Amino acid sequence: MPSTLIVNARLVNEGREYDGDLRIDGERIAEIGAGLSARAGETVLDARGRRLLPGMIDDQVHFREPGMEYKADMATESAAAVAGGLTTFMDMPNTSPPTLDAAALEDKYRRAAGRAWGNFGFYLGASNDNLAAIQSLDPRTAPGVKVFMGASTGNMLVDDPVTLDAIFRDVPTPIITHCEDTPMIDAELARYKAQYGDDIPARFHPDIRSREACKKSTELAISLARKHNTRLHVLHISTADELALFQPGPIEGKRITAETCIHFLRFDRDDYETLGHLIKCNPAIKDPADREALIRAVASDVIDVLATDHAPHTLEEKARPYTSAPSGLPLVQFALNAALELVHEGRLSTAQVVDKFAHAPAKLFDVEHRGFLREGYFADLVLIDDAPYTVAREDVLSKCGWSPFEGRTFRSRIASTWVNGQLAWDGVSLVGAPNGQRLAFAR
Ligand code: DOR
Repeated sequence: MPSTLIVNARLVNEGREYDGDLRIDGERIAEIGAGLSARAGETVLDARGRRLLPGMIDDQVHFREPGMEYKADMATESAAAVAGGLTTFMDMPNTSPPTLDAAALEDKYRRAAGRAWGNFGFYLGASNDNLAAIQSLDPRTAPGVKVFMGASTGNMLVDDPVTLDAIFRDVPTPIITHCEDTPMIDAELARYKAQYGDDIPARFHPDIRSREACKKSTELAISLARKHNTRLHVLHISTADELALFQPGPIEGKRITAETCIHFLRFDRDDYETLGHLIKCNPAIKDPADREALIRAVASDVIDVLATDHAPHTLEEKARPYTSAPSGLPLVQFALNAALELVHEGRLSTAQVVDKFAHAPAKLFDVEHRGFLREGYFADLVLIDDAPYTVAREDVLSKCGWSPFEGRTFRSRIASTWVNGQLAWDGVSLVGAPNGQRLAFAR
């Protein structure tokens, strides 16, 4: 079995940061300790005091396969993720066709096998007419069921109240929701269209997809979850207003949890002026005060999970007028660098980033043997180098070929990423072959 010993690392795990060594045997972490000595034939890497983290687990990506491979696919986007220190991804069902039954799920798992650089799980999607598929879902085959309680990319809105109630009652996995009230959004959109036609300035996006629309829909999801004691995870919280709806505290024991995404912590309304549709996404990036409140909510455990909502679209699509420019931005490759800026700024500790971006999604979705630096767990690891890195378009590995962070300098970069014990990223290039595995859910 190939074996690697990483010595002199600064390990960050389960709330602690400490000096130590870590041995990888085959796919797994064999040993964590101090002063471990190299065996004959073992590869030894001196981390020189750099931080070694469990690989990040991104519980919200759109890798676009099947059906939209012209702008992204599982191979390209998982490569970008691994280059960014994200070793596991959970992919959304708004593909073409959408993932609405067990056969569509298995098709995705087949496509990912041998092509995904990171480990993979696929959500089942909900619609107004696939209740039977949700009821019969084997909970070991998907991290959860995604419910669009607001219309977004794809046509997957669940707005039939009887169906919605039944989904919350019968779902055998966590429910994850996109919460935005579509009738409220449609009314605002009509108002702006009357004034501007299709060329509505991008800065009005947070007024059209308003904070009130987010709050109303999140309140509905929470009331349904309380009624049925559903395990609910509300995705991409974007407003200060919604935070009072969630309880602070550790994720253990919570039946209702909240996620925010890296773009809500790194951009705000002022950025529409320079980035325009490049940061148009649903829900919308809102005000500086929302961004501040969300960072505080991550630090105080009101927000449980940090994710990307990586949603690539081409530059040609993004250049269209407001009403036809699609929402979403590519994020996986630089999300961890961006999160670590919050550490440099003194807003979060590295342990908190690891908690929200690795431990918490592993716990929430019962991911087996991943998300922690623990002996016996899979060796999904990321080594961080505190050397400045400026994002350049030519470094972007996502198929869409651009990043909202272009030109930004981060103070940390990803030195190495291991997936299932194999080096997959060496700080400059991808290494070896795709080595992602299908996730197992310990349920
Ligand atoms: O901005 C978004 N883009 N929000 C979503 O809900 C969907 C996503 C996409 O698939 O493009």
